[in-house]
Amino acid sequence: MSHPSETSPVTARRAARLSGMAEVPGDKSVSHRALIFGALAVGETRITGLLEGDDVLGTAEAMRAFGAEVTRTGPGAWIVHGFGVGGLAEPQNVIDCGNAGTGVRLIMGMMATTPISATFTGDASLRQRPMGRILDPLALFGARSSGRAGGLLPLTLTGAANPVPVEYTLPVPSAQVKSAVLLAGLNAPGETIVIEREATRDHTERMLRGFGAEVVVEDLPDGRAIRLTGQPELHPLNIAVPRDPSSAAFPVAAALMVEGSDILVPNICLNPTRAGFYLTLAEMGADLTRENPHDEGGEPVADLRARFSALKGVEVPPERAASMIDEYPILAILAAFAEGDTVMRGISELRVKESDRIAAMVAGLRANGIEVTEHDDGMIVHGRGADGVPGGGTVATHLDHRIAMAFLCLGFAARNPVRIDDAGPIATSFPSFTTLMANLGATITKDNR
Ligand code: S3P
Repeated sequence: MSHPSETSPVTARRAARLSGMAEVPGDKSVSHRALIFGALAVGETRITGLLEGDDVLGTAEAMRAFGAEVTRTGPGAWIVHGFGVGGLAEPQNVIDCGNAGTGVRLIMGMMATTPISATFTGDASLRQRPMGRILDPLALFGARSSGRAGGLLPLTLTGAANPVPVEYTLPVPSAQVKSAVLLAGLNAPGETIVIEREATRDHTERMLRGFGAEVVVEDLPDGRAIRLTGQPELHPLNIAVPRDPSSAAFPVAAALMVEGSDILVPNICLNPTRAGFYLTLAEMGADLTRENPHDEGGEPVADLRARFSALKGVEVPPERAASMIDEYPILAILAAFAEGDTVMRGISELRVKESDRIAAMVAGLRANGIEVTEHDDGMIVHGRGADGVPGGGTVATHLDHRIAMAFLCLGFAARNPVRIDDAGPIATSFPSFTTLMANLGATITKDNR
């Protein structure tokens, strides 16, 4: 993966109205998993609609390094010839996962029960993110790791030669940790059990079943247990990746904020474990409808239609956090355009994402004339109403694609232009963002550094 040292500052200006169709890229979570499970199956997995962002391309490269044959046959169309559960080769070089927390954590899970070693690293953002949350459960299977103090990358992981199955209760609500444990459990004999107190995104469970593994989900009085039978033979699958609800959140939010807007965002994955943001928008009074609901690749999808709306502040229930964890940056922007306060608490996980997203949002909102109260576990945005956001600030994006896109959306509706210090990271999840927004009628211009 390349780590461009040059930053790319850009400015977003107030838009007249946004209209048209916004075809956002494939879902990032499903795309990573499609490549990884394809590599763990024996035979040919065909994927369409794959997100071709830097994060996912890094995972494709990593699957090659572990011995899979991964070929691009057209835009979003990929074929993976897998090596089978336990059939991983030892990579000959360092695995660089760039900005991708999902990539590195799932891949470490995948190799933790095969007796090979691999060294992992990433960009300056990923090298600050906690890996102990993965290494602790992987050690229970018998994997060993050594790296920087505090469980930071770069680190070397050696998979267990005689793995044992594990029962693990997630200490934080994290689909990445859940998925890493389930991936490790694939090559352990017997039953691996993950217990989660709060439901997190369940793409791994759905896809594991699709590839032929035995996965049973049992409701508990306070959460659920996911039971996986180890050492299955995974059969290849054809996967149509639905479009990403976390990427769709940006054009949808922009349409809600820019007066006169009316846009259609087709084929969005609306898996209930991902759709909390859209529920919250309805509570804020958004004119947002779901059309043409159907199933695609084992995931519920629908078209979203969003029109300009007068929004009101809400209190987001903390128990909804996991189902909208990546959408808080853009929700905080919408909250600035709402009447009244929007309370977002119980989201301390945001402090260990691609950046400390609470700190980044608070600083960026204040730089654009919006009052925010910061808490350890969240923030309260004091909304200024549809036409009351000053803008005019410059925002530090800290190598975080969602901070970058959120503040550009602020610029489409604020009174004054909004500048971000670096648009480069947007390519990790949404390479077509600038073109797509321009096609809807928004303006983003490059600045001199
Ligand atoms: C993801 C899980 C989430 C999310 C990330 C993608 C996944 O992280 O923030 O963008 O694909 O499993 P956590 O599970 O650590 O909350």
